[in-house]
This record gives sequence, C-alpha cells and structure tokens, in this order.
Amino acid sequence: MPYKRCGRSGLLLPRISLGLWHNFGGVDSLENARTMIRGAFDRGITHFDLANNYGPPAGSAESTFGQIFKQDLVPYRDELIISSKAGYDMWPGPYGEWGSRKYLIASLDQSLKRMGLEYVDIFYSHRFDPDTPLEETMGALSSIVQQGKALYVGISSYPPEQTKKAIELLRKAGTPCLIHQPSYSMLNRWIEDGLTQVLDEEGVGCIVFSPLAQGLLTNRYLSDIPSDSRASRNHFLKTERITNELQQQLRALNDIAGNRGQSLAQMALSWVLHNPTVTSALIGASRLEQIIDCIASVENEQFDDQELRAIDAIVAQIQTL
Ligand SMILES: NC(=O)c1ccc[n+]([C@@H]2O[C@H](COP(=O)([O-])OP(=O)(O)OC[C@H]3O[C@@H](n4cnc5c(N)ncnc54)[C@H](OP(=O)(O)O)[C@@H]3O)[C@@H](O)[C@H]2O)c1
Repeated sequence: MPYKRCGRSGLLLPRISLGLWHNFGGVDSLENARTMIRGAFDRGITHFDLANNYGPPAGSAESTFGQIFKQDLVPYRDELIISSKAGYDMWPGPYGEWGSRKYLIASLDQSLKRMGLEYVDIFYSHRFDPDTPLEETMGALSSIVQQGKALYVGISSYPPEQTKKAIELLRKAGTPCLIHQPSYSMLNRWIEDGLTQVLDEEGVGCIVFSPLAQGLLTNRYLSDIPSDSRASRNHFLKTERITNELQQQLRALNDIAGNRGQSLAQMALSWVLHNPTVTSALIGASRLEQIIDCIASVENEQFDDQELRAIDAIVAQIQTL
C-alpha cells in the first residue's frame, strides 16, 4: 500500500482508506465486519473512518469498531488512524446535531466511549452549519485537540468559501486543519469548481468519499440489482437510479476499464487518485474481496488523454439521464 502526505502535514495516509458508513452497523454481521477490518489492516489500510451516526442504528458502527478494536487491534493502536465526526442528527433535542460547541464536544465524548478509545486521530465537523458562527465550531475543534481528545481536526463537505475561513480560524488557534473530506467520483466532480484550489493553496489534505458513487462505478449493477447490494435496500442509493440506460453507460465504462486491465471499481479509484489534490480514496465495502479488488487500483493511476476523453464522454451521457 502506498502512503501519501496529507497536505503539508507530517501525517501519511494510505491511498485507499476504509469507511464504516454501511455494513458495520448493529444490523450487520459482526464476523464479516471483523474479517473486513482485519483483512484491510493486514493489507496496509491503516485508516478507518467513522462518524457518530453510522449504523444502523446510529452509533452502532462505532460500537462494532470498538469491539473489534478491543479484540484484535489494541496492540496496534499506534499503527492506526481512526477518525470520527459530528454534524448530522444524532440525538433528540436541540443539542444533537449541527455545529455548536455543546454538540461537538458531547458527541466526541460519546464516540470515544463507544469505540473504547482515549482519543481519535482525526475529528471532523461533518457539515457546515449556516446558523452557528464558524468561530464557535472551529473553536470547539481546537479545544478538542488541546484537550487531547483528537490529534488532528478536519471538515467535511464544506463549500470552498467556508473552507477557506475555517482553515484560517484553525490556523490562528494553533490547531491547523489537517484535511477536508468531500464527495468525489467520476460522476460527481463538484470539488473541481474551487475547493481543490483552496486545499492546494492552503496545504490541506483531501480524502474523498463515495469514490465508487456508492457502488454504481463497480461491476455490481452492470446487468441487474443484486439482492445483497446497497441499491436493493433502496435508501441511500435508490433502485430507480439503476435504469437500462444507466447500465448501458456503466458497461461502456467497464469496457474502458477492461482495456486498462482493471475492474470498473479499480478504474474509478485510479481516476480519483489521479487528481494530485487527492490524498486518499475513502471506500466502503460489504465483503473483504471488494477491498482486495479496490487496493489493486493503486498499481495503475495513470490515464492517457484518449482514456480521459472517452470517460468524460460517457459520464456526460450519464449526467443527461
Ligand atoms: N463525510 C460524509 O458526509 C460522508 C458521506 C458518505 C460517506 N462517507 C465516508 O465514505 C465512506 C465510503 O462511502 P461509500 O460506502 O458511499 O463509498 P463507495 O466506495 O463509493 O461505495 C461503496 C460500495 O461500493 C461497492 N463496492 C466497493 N468495492 C467494490 C468492488 N471492488 N467491487 C464491487 N463493488 C464494490 C459496495 O457495495 P455493496 O455494499 O452494494 O456491495 C460498497 O458498499 C463511508 O464509509 C464513510 O466513511 C462520508
């Protein structure tokens, strides 16, 4: 596994990191979760990404991780980068979401308990809160570092302008912003419109989530909707999104991947890693075989102009669907 420096920090992150949003909840198989985490770590994936609300039920992915950590990973704590976040709806009442100091600090305390950790390596503000002063949210992140509850802090899905301001506030407080976590894939390129420029200028790292567009950019949906797939659950990835027209375009992308000697998932990951701003691609998985397939993407991050143009033409077709 190759590692890349996170912005201008001292921290190296693996090019492929593993997120526990789906398939690690209380409703999922603990044994499968354990197989995936152990198998990922054995292959050099040192970074595991969580959030307070991952499950279902909310909080249970952290509990699952805590159980596996206790069982298998305690001796390797210093080889691991574990992150969590707060920002989305987590508990009832006015203090259970968004970006207040009250919420962020209470939520991290809960996350640490669930995971059985003394500190997380990275703690994120999960989303920009338009109704809380950014000074308060960044002040809370800064306090969290000063209290030793997180080694680094980051922000997720903040637009470019708010990102710049957050970076400035954290720098002034002496607790620099390590990383931004935005969505990014061949099908979702919003970060190219201003955000990557801010991150490059400021020397902040970038770990991109849903690089496989939640599984669309894999072999899962080339001909049907497998009954054990995310789309079959029809919640975060809607069944109606998988039309015959989309499948036809996905098969065309798959052909390009095949010509590169890659699976579609591997090409989709190579494509995000090819962007020089991207530190790490943050994947999800439902089985270890997928993680192993994804890791091989790091062997070929180069694209020629013809391949890039062919991909863009197909993606343009998909955007019209
Ligand atoms: N900051 C935020 O707001 C935010 C939001 C979303 C996600 N995230 C983070 O990003 C992580 C990844 O998100 P994501 O799960 O949407 O990412 P993704 O990598 O785009 O999609 C993961 C899904 O793709 C399928 N897959 C993965 N590898 C495959 C392979 N080699 N072959 C075939 N199918 C494969 C699996 O689908 P099946 O499950 O159907 O098998 C897997 O669950 C999350 O766990 C979380 O840590 C952060």
